Amino acid sequence: MPGPVTWLPDAEGTVTDLPVFGSASPMREVTETVAFDAAWDSSRRAKVRELFDGMAADWSSRATPEREASILDALDRGGLAGGTVIELGSGTGLGTGHLIERFDDLIALDLSMQMLRHQPDLAPKVQADASMLPFPDGAADLLVLVNMLLFPAEVDRVVRPGGGLLWINTLGHETPIHLSPEAVVDALPGSWTATAGRAGSGLWAAVQRA
Ligand SMILES: C[S@@+](CC[C@H](N)C(=O)[O-])C[C@H]1O[C@@H](n2cnc3c(N)ncnc32)[C@H](O)[C@@H]1O
Repeated sequence: MPGPVTWLPDAEGTVTDLPVFGSASPMREVTETVAFDAAWDSSRRAKVRELFDGMAADWSSRATPEREASILDALDRGGLAGGTVIELGSGTGLGTGHLIERFDDLIALDLSMQMLRHQPDLAPKVQADASMLPFPDGAADLLVLVNMLLFPAEVDRVVRPGGGLLWINTLGHETPIHLSPEAVVDALPGSWTATAGRAGSGLWAAVQRA
């Protein structure tokens, strides 16, 4: 019987020899403890907001063709349908620009006001904490997280029955905010399945309620 994650073959040109970067970042421990231990409080929120506020001005200089390739492949081969789509942790919009090409009803949400200020006006922007989303239960057909912390309980609450979650790490396992597709499925309450792939410098998981 297949497991909850089905891996597709790597896309042509996938970069597999990533230099060590994010696995040594303090954000890795934050990512894992938020996903598995709900280790998020006002102090951590303030620190993370301050960190990203401080990086907002030059965040968009991180765009590379390899990074873009992972997002485009996730959208192409992930096969998740749109409807109401909310991008959590949209930052300065490096993913948002691609998402708006595919989804008419897109909201871009981030904790950091500075990140949102540096984001072009691509979609309605919401400043909020993804650990307590300002949306009713079942409001989203799809949540998209590009290099963003996973708050499993809120994903479970806000994704409608039959909806999905697109998880993208644009530097693969060397993304500071990284979870494997298997870990994403494990962290979510209830029963979910995923299709996963690698492309460019990244990896992704298209996750759906089983
Ligand atoms: C690593 S950056 C990624 C930004 C963008 N998705 C990208 O790939 O370029 C993580 C983003 O998540 C946001 N973020 C972190 N914690 C958050 C939270 N609890 N709620 C909403 N956004 C959050 C940060 O402010 C930051 O913009």
